[in-house]
Amino acid sequence: MTEKAVIKPFFFLDENQQVEYYNNWAQKYEEDSAKVGYNAPENTLEFCLKWLKSSDSDRILDVGCGTGHMGNLLLQHGYNNLDGHDGSEKMLEIAKQKRVYQNLYYEILVPGKHSNIPSESYDGLVTVGTILPGHLNSDHVSEMLRFLKKDGRLIIGMRKQWLTFPGDEYKWNYDLESEFKKLEQEGKWKLLEKKFKNEHSSGVEGVYLVYEKL
Ligand SMILES: C[S@@+](CC[C@H](N)C(=O)[O-])C[C@H]1O[C@@H](n2cnc3c(N)ncnc32)[C@H](O)[C@@H]1O
Repeated sequence: MTEKAVIKPFFFLDENQQVEYYNNWAQKYEEDSAKVGYNAPENTLEFCLKWLKSSDSDRILDVGCGTGHMGNLLLQHGYNNLDGHDGSEKMLEIAKQKRVYQNLYYEILVPGKHSNIPSESYDGLVTVGTILPGHLNSDHVSEMLRFLKKDGRLIIGMRKQWLTFPGDEYKWNYDLESEFKKLEQEGKWKLLEKKFKNEHSSGVEGVYLVYEKL
């Protein structure tokens, strides 16, 4: 199966259709991800180890945690105060079986809508494979920042191609590069690290961004 065949359909769905898509995909998600060499959580781990503390008192939220791939890796590396969040009930059911998250939030993040996650309650936030067409974008950032304490860190792992407008094919009208910079100029966050890495999935370049909430 090519990567395009796996991921292409969900680019054009709205939020509700998209979580339904994941509900239907959940049982096969990990198998399909492995087939396309999905390696984004492994790539993101480097930045978590560098920028997030693993002390028991430091709370970390995995936004769009899916079946818990990232959480599982973090737990193996000593992070045991993890919570997960996702809009797909079926993906969360699989994450729950892994017993890596203390609390799981089941809700769709919608720009401008206050979610149930309390304000300023996390020291770190990680979100991997979630910023792409039909999923999260720069409009969701202010809500994610709300969950973080001041000086808390937000780590994003995503495909490089979504940083800028990739063309009509994907109907992705976000220029994240400039929008993320604008948030910096507005004093919302500060960039601590930005790095490109190969093999986000097979043959796909990823970008890994670390921000600090101001
Ligand atoms: C490609 S999967 C990545 C899952 C996991 N982070 C990983 O790396 O394996 C994207 C996940 O984001 C979730 N998601 C996308 N948009 C969402 C939204 N607006 N609110 C909540 N969850 C969302 C989906 O349900 C799905 O589980």
